Amino acid sequence: MTSVTKNDKYTKTRAPIVEALKKAYENPTYQFHIPGHTKGSGALPEFKQLIGRKALAVDTTDEFDNLGTLHPATGPIKEAQELAAKAFGAKKTFFLLNGSTAGNLALAMGLTKKGQKILTNRNCHRSILTGMIISGAEPLWLVPERFEDWGIWGNVSPERVEEMLKMHGDISMVWITNPTYEGVVSDIKSISAICKRYNVPLIVDEAHACLWNFNDHLPTSALKLGADAVVHSLHKTGGSMSQSSMLHIAENSMIDVDAVEKALKLLHTTSPSLMLLASLDAARANLESPRGRKQLQRAISNAKYLRSEIDKLEHIHQLKPDFGYKTDVTKVFIKADGLSGKRLESILEIDFNIEVESASDAGLLLLSNIGNKRSDMQYLVECLKKIDTANYSDICYLENKKHMPMLTPIIKMSLRDAYYSPKETIPKSQAIGRISAEVIAECPPGIAVLLPGELITEDHLPYLTDYEFIEVIK
Ligand SMILES: Cc1ncc(COP(=O)(O)O)c(C=O)c1O
Repeated sequence: MTSVTKNDKYTKTRAPIVEALKKAYENPTYQFHIPGHTKGSGALPEFKQLIGRKALAVDTTDEFDNLGTLHPATGPIKEAQELAAKAFGAKKTFFLLNGSTAGNLALAMGLTKKGQKILTNRNCHRSILTGMIISGAEPLWLVPERFEDWGIWGNVSPERVEEMLKMHGDISMVWITNPTYEGVVSDIKSISAICKRYNVPLIVDEAHACLWNFNDHLPTSALKLGADAVVHSLHKTGGSMSQSSMLHIAENSMIDVDAVEKALKLLHTTSPSLMLLASLDAARANLESPRGRKQLQRAISNAKYLRSEIDKLEHIHQLKPDFGYKTDVTKVFIKADGLSGKRLESILEIDFNIEVESASDAGLLLLSNIGNKRSDMQYLVECLKKIDTANYSDICYLENKKHMPMLTPIIKMSLRDAYYSPKETIPKSQAIGRISAEVIAECPPGIAVLLPGELITEDHLPYLTDYEFIEVIK
């Protein structure tokens, strides 16, 4: 019997861009084209040392060295997109630079028009709103349940989607974020069935859920539940490099794929980074491989371990799927008695050298990643145990800043009209009663506190503690 070498294992899950880039690296040319650092020779030595000589040697853009092109997709890039479509169960996949933001912008620009009504959840990412500023479409809000104790939004109810579709006969698209940043899952299967009954396309922003197709213990991806298009931030949890994402078109999608592709071409850089594209190709190949599946299984069992240990603590609690909704097990939202989430975050950071995903007054979010080892989790658990039994509450402070916008906007003008109207910048204290001219959305979670065209009220002020001035309509 012949033994399986490391190389055989690698070629089983093909990664065409990675392979082409490797070939280019091994067969260097005399380079008289961009990027000007010319395989790193023109780079600052300290930078080159920091990121590694090879990283700069493979930093190139499409068209050169038989690497193919992104728009239109050709060569290894086309092949890699096709392999990704197969892996995620899509009809077509586009690789995205500028994150899922680029996907949301292209969907809005390609599929919506001025004045069209888009039904979307209030806690959508700002990129969806930016897309509507570009196209001139207007949001109609689905206001999810609020989990006040946790300071977060809950899931979108299918009944509310149906009510809104019934009430407004002119809704041209439904656009749902699933899961929420904290991992709360909506019933996309029912929402999709409703959209089909009303003959409107369903887009699902699955920025935080690119792993779902690779393990049965995670919720089901909207691509399998009848959505027409889905965006995935592979860079968030899938293992690709920052900024790289994917946009998938579902098998039986009713949307105009050419229109989305054209918009993407206009929105994308004309010098795509091959390194970012290769990292998408590599992340997909890894997730499909036995090694990647093991990593994901480990992330899930680490999350379960963390959750079971948190259950044993007296003063630290976790958000659990125990009142009528599901969650993604790998996203662990916790809060501590007598400590704000921000305070808990700083204790973890300063006293224990732990960096968390995000924190608010209410709590903080921990991600169990495919790259985390069991020993990382054990260390985290030990630290949480120490915090649970120590008396940190005497130095507890509240930031008195709200992070998660949980307001229902009062819209006075369309997003686009407001964005392009004459504006002025005024002190925040004078802004109440005025109409906002800007998107204010802090990242994370990138959910808008204020939209262009929204009436500014006193309720906004706790979210705006970092702002002295606000841009308003003149
Ligand atoms: C729900 C949601 N959609 C889209 C995005 C944009 O993703 P990216 O950072 O990949 O552009 C984010 C980013 O946080 C998000 O939370």
